[in-house]
Amino acid sequence: MERFYIQDAGKFDGQTVTIKGWVYNKRSSGKIKFLIMRDGSGLMQCVLFKGECTEESFVEFEKLTQESAVEVTGKLRKEPRSMGGYEMGVQSVKTVSIAEPYPISLKDHGVEFLMENRHLWIRSQKQWATLRVRAEIIRAIQEFFDKQGFIRFDAPILTPSACEGTSTLFSTAYFDEKAFLTQSGQLYGETGAMAFGRIYVFGPTFRAEKSKTRKHLTEFWMVEPEVAFNDLNDNMTLGEQFIEHIVQSVLANRGAELKILERDLTKLESIKGPFPRISYDEALKVLEKRGVGIPWGEDFGAPHETALGEEFGKPVFVHHMPAQIKAFYFKQSDAVDGPGVTGNGKYALGCDLIAPDGYGEIIGGGQREESVDVLKRRIAEHGLKESDYSWYLDLRRYGSVPHSGFGLGLERTVAWMSGAEHVRETVPYPRMLQTLRP
Ligand code: 4AD
Ligand code: MG
Repeated sequence: MERFYIQDAGKFDGQTVTIKGWVYNKRSSGKIKFLIMRDGSGLMQCVLFKGECTEESFVEFEKLTQESAVEVTGKLRKEPRSMGGYEMGVQSVKTVSIAEPYPISLKDHGVEFLMENRHLWIRSQKQWATLRVRAEIIRAIQEFFDKQGFIRFDAPILTPSACEGTSTLFSTAYFDEKAFLTQSGQLYGETGAMAFGRIYVFGPTFRAEKSKTRKHLTEFWMVEPEVAFNDLNDNMTLGEQFIEHIVQSVLANRGAELKILERDLTKLESIKGPFPRISYDEALKVLEKRGVGIPWGEDFGAPHETALGEEFGKPVFVHHMPAQIKAFYFKQSDAVDGPGVTGNGKYALGCDLIAPDGYGEIIGGGQREESVDVLKRRIAEHGLKESDYSWYLDLRRYGSVPHSGFGLGLERTVAWMSGAEHVRETVPYPRMLQTLRP
């Protein structure tokens, strides 16, 4: 027989099924015993009632500890007050293994303790719900690009050169030379765009971030579309449609999880395009007005991202950043509304998407420089070695075209969708400045 999972209860109304899972909680009320079962797909209340279930079941019930493994057989019936709308009238209980005293009780624990027990913490309701939201976002990401005809293009993780500056590189011995863990698949993604027209890179990326914030991991997942012949505006339109698809998918398919997470649904439901598009110069005026002004040329920090979120109440694109704070590969421009220039300009044709409610920059991207001579000069200006980028420069030698792309940080997106306070809860095993275990 097909294995039964709690999430499919609706298809088995009135039928006798077996839940194979773990004891989440149990309680007694006079002669009735309640077993809250967890099978990975959801929770279900199972009711032991004298006369309905075997005598041995009551003996087993007494032995069961939190997280003991059991197989509970019984009949499903509708119970609107119960989670998932169903409960089980138990017929028999079969113990698989009795759990030792479980370190994580249903009361509150400190984060440090929970992080040390991350391998067990992921069984708890909120962590479980957050990671299910993550899985849905991954599914929706792939669906969005695959449906439109993008080709998934996997970039290497071990690389010989930097993409996002040399200050956050992790290095490792690679036989007789040094290799770096990739900071971004973008440069390889650009080669894919010239071969396939539209591609997306999706995989783990690494940054030796010394900052201890609620938005920074040292290992995080990034999805990076890259499209030949797209300009900066096309790039923002793609990002907008992409975010809308993710939000709609999470709302449609993870309603129960969002409820467990107590996420304010009206906030997510209102995430619809078009998103405001403002230049960095305009953003500075908004920041000034809100009392968190910064001098021209400085990057945004958390207070500035929060202020922009408050101003617009929805995700906002900031474009035309100061070239001086951007990576070597950006196309540049002299004016915010002018065309791109062949050479160095004041602005980089970048676009960052800032999420509301302080979740920060979730997309970073822009239009790429397409001239081989300009790129060579930039590589030198940024203190990089030209020979490391010879293959990248070839893209500008053989059929160079305008092209654009961006990177979406998966964990920040999961944090935003699920309302998580810190990105450490949005990935099974977060890697941070002081976190390498479990
Ligand atoms: O803005 P970033 O650095 O852009 C790039 O790496 C480009 N090469 C991407 C591209 O154009 N293909 O990073 C992109 C996104 C950020 O907006 C943020 O969401 C996420 O990656 N991100 C991080 N997420 C968690 N922890 C960190 N340390 C992150 N650094 C960046
Ligand atoms: Mg960025």
